Amino acid sequence: MKDLAFEESHGSQRRERITILIAGGGGFLGSHLCEKLLGEGNRIICVDNFQTGSRRNVAPFIENPDFSLIEQDVCIPLKIKEPVNQIYNMACAASPPSYQQNPIHTLMTNIIGAKNLLDLARRKGARILQSSTSEIYGDPEIPLQVESYNGNVNTCGPRACYDEGKRAAETLFWEYNELYGVQTRVARIFNTYGPRMHPKDGRVVSNFIVQALEGENLTIYGDGSQTRSFCFVSDMVDGLVRLMASNETMPVNIGNPDEFTILDLAKIVQRKTLTRSRIEFTSLPKDDPRQRRPDIGRAAAVLDWAPKVSLDEGLDHMIAWFREELIGPRLTDALVQ
Ligand SMILES: NC(=O)c1ccc[n+]([C@@H]2O[C@H](COP(=O)([O-])OP(=O)(O)OC[C@H]3O[C@@H](n4cnc5c(N)ncnc54)[C@H](O)[C@@H]3O)[C@@H](O)[C@H]2O)c1
Repeated sequence: MKDLAFEESHGSQRRERITILIAGGGGFLGSHLCEKLLGEGNRIICVDNFQTGSRRNVAPFIENPDFSLIEQDVCIPLKIKEPVNQIYNMACAASPPSYQQNPIHTLMTNIIGAKNLLDLARRKGARILQSSTSEIYGDPEIPLQVESYNGNVNTCGPRACYDEGKRAAETLFWEYNELYGVQTRVARIFNTYGPRMHPKDGRVVSNFIVQALEGENLTIYGDGSQTRSFCFVSDMVDGLVRLMASNETMPVNIGNPDEFTILDLAKIVQRKTLTRSRIEFTSLPKDDPRQRRPDIGRAAAVLDWAPKVSLDEGLDHMIAWFREELIGPRLTDALVQ
């Protein structure tokens, strides 16, 4: 296998081509990571059980000799013969309806799956990044969530399998770093949106856009005064790659600090899609967080990172992408899955 050198996208440093394993590489964020890191000349091993991801997301890479796909659940220990330099753990259903379908499996993915990947990192001497989440803050009592905030999480509720699983995974990462010196990185990801989100997975940005384009009412859970901060996928992938390259072993928030109410978002989508769809209100699910806004001071300091894409611009990209998808075959596939 020949070694290629490439320019890092965010610096002038030259680095050698490396082998990167992306667990959950068939999902929304994972497939964008595959695309970026493959494009930079690396070898990519994608591991996915396609629980929520899609073979269509990785179809453009399948013929690439630098890309290989292993269809496997990360709860089963991974046997990889070749050297691995970096591991991104993106494997976990991310939308509440998906992760609540099989809550025990969600918890096990976050704990057993993370442990299997940490064991692999330890065996291979690889650096490993965990896709943690703003959900580890639960329903926060502070308006701006900083990494030192310990959160307000319910251990016995419908979101607990995800939130508590992600919290336990952070602890596993911390212990593997402390006990075994594994090079761990932890990204606390805030709501991210963009092309390749599953049109029917129930996340708010894709929900509103699909509803607006299909002429259905936009469904708001609660009165719409709860807030979220939305990060475009290219900014998120850039932040994750920078974190992997950094020396920071403590968790880092990555997200866009511009905060919107859900009602604001619905109105923006209505305006941008020129839909006749109306807004309808329905009951708020249990434990739905009231607010979400990242303090990104640490990301700025240690990664020299800040988001570049505004919600206005990002929504234009996403709406254009969904317009194409909804008249193409993807929605038909989604409906029969
Ligand atoms: N997108 C966001 O806004 C967001 C926010 C916070 C955290 N995250 C985290 O980022 C990661 C990726 O999220 P996403 O938005 O791309 O979600 P996604 O559902 O599109 O992708 C998750 C991928 O993991 C795979 N997967 C799930 N369980 C698996 C298992 N046991 N074994 C192997 N593969 C498995 C799925 O098939 C899918 O391809 C997740 O860990 C999620 O918790 C995402």
